[in-house]
Amino acid sequence: MSTISVKHLTRSFQVFDKQPGLAASVKSIFYRPERTVHAVEDVNFEINQGELVGFIGPNGAGKTTTLKCLSGLLFPTSGEINILGFHPSDRQYDYLRQIGFVMGQKNQLWWDIPPQETFLLNQAIYDIPISTYKKRLGFFVDILDIKDVITVQTKKLSLGQRMKCEFVAALLHNPKVLFLDEPTIGLDVIASQKIRQFIRQVNQEFKTTVILTSHNMNDVAELCRRTILIDRGQIKFDGLLTDLTSKYTELKILRFTFETKIPTTTIKKFGDIVDNDGYRYTIKVAKDKYLQVASKILSSLPVVDLNIEDTPIEDVIRQVYADK
Ligand SMILES: Nc1ncnc2c1ncn2[C@@H]1O[C@H](COP(=O)(O)OP(=O)(O)OP(=O)(O)O)[C@@H](O)[C@H]1O
Ligand SMILES: [Mg+2]
Repeated sequence: MSTISVKHLTRSFQVFDKQPGLAASVKSIFYRPERTVHAVEDVNFEINQGELVGFIGPNGAGKTTTLKCLSGLLFPTSGEINILGFHPSDRQYDYLRQIGFVMGQKNQLWWDIPPQETFLLNQAIYDIPISTYKKRLGFFVDILDIKDVITVQTKKLSLGQRMKCEFVAALLHNPKVLFLDEPTIGLDVIASQKIRQFIRQVNQEFKTTVILTSHNMNDVAELCRRTILIDRGQIKFDGLLTDLTSKYTELKILRFTFETKIPTTTIKKFGDIVDNDGYRYTIKVAKDKYLQVASKILSSLPVVDLNIEDTPIEDVIRQVYADK
């Protein structure tokens, strides 16, 4: 049986549209036009133990709403969720002990005390044996390199330091399932990389099942084999990220450096020029022609360097979202 099973999950919200202006305000006391937003609509998926799944989609697609339903923070409007044999909306203590939730945009650590003290509170709440607690904390502190961080008042920490501590707080009770909602949002390249390594390590070491949402495609590309694409509340793709992107990747990017200055008119014949300074050219070429183009340029012009790259994954995803 799969660890996570989601069947026909639908979550709607009633929203009230208010027109601007005083007259409209008065009118709205008596009559408020109501509209139903289907944040998530008939979503189905199964996830097995130990899988690390990327959950992507444009703003407002329904990612956070889905994760909130899975964690029991929101009641589904209809449909069935079964995780490790529990229905999350029952909010049983035994279920909450099995899950962890990290939200990049929300603080779960207590603001006025050092993370270390929040960790101790969690130790008590989850009833973690003290020796296990110490061992796990030591393990996390080591790999995240936060020995000197956990004793500082949370509100004085940098975003990156705080996020690392958020992960520790969410993982001390060794949850079997981990929900990550944009865990690297606002982090610099190095901190994001550290967090990614950490997620991978936790997934491998403890066989934790992870669902990760992110707008940073590097997170998904580096961590997840399987990717679920959701748009306007509905699943549009569930499979390998590479399958999704290769369908949309029609161009290769070639970067040439020449010994002498080459006029743009010469290069234009080979492909679309993205960038050039006379000596260095970046051109876009159709995937099925790039080898031919590269060898033509190599044999006819004084090339000193050549790089061939795929379209950046961010560009591909932008195209997928635009095209859906
Ligand atoms: N509490 C709420 N009340 C009314 N509408 C809501 C509520 N929460 C979410 N929605 C609506 O549901 C839809 C899905 O929102 P959700 O937060 O799940 O999107 P998301 O995929 O997480 O987007 P983002 O990438 O911007 O975080 C949006 O149209 C949003 O406005
Ligand atoms: Mg969201």
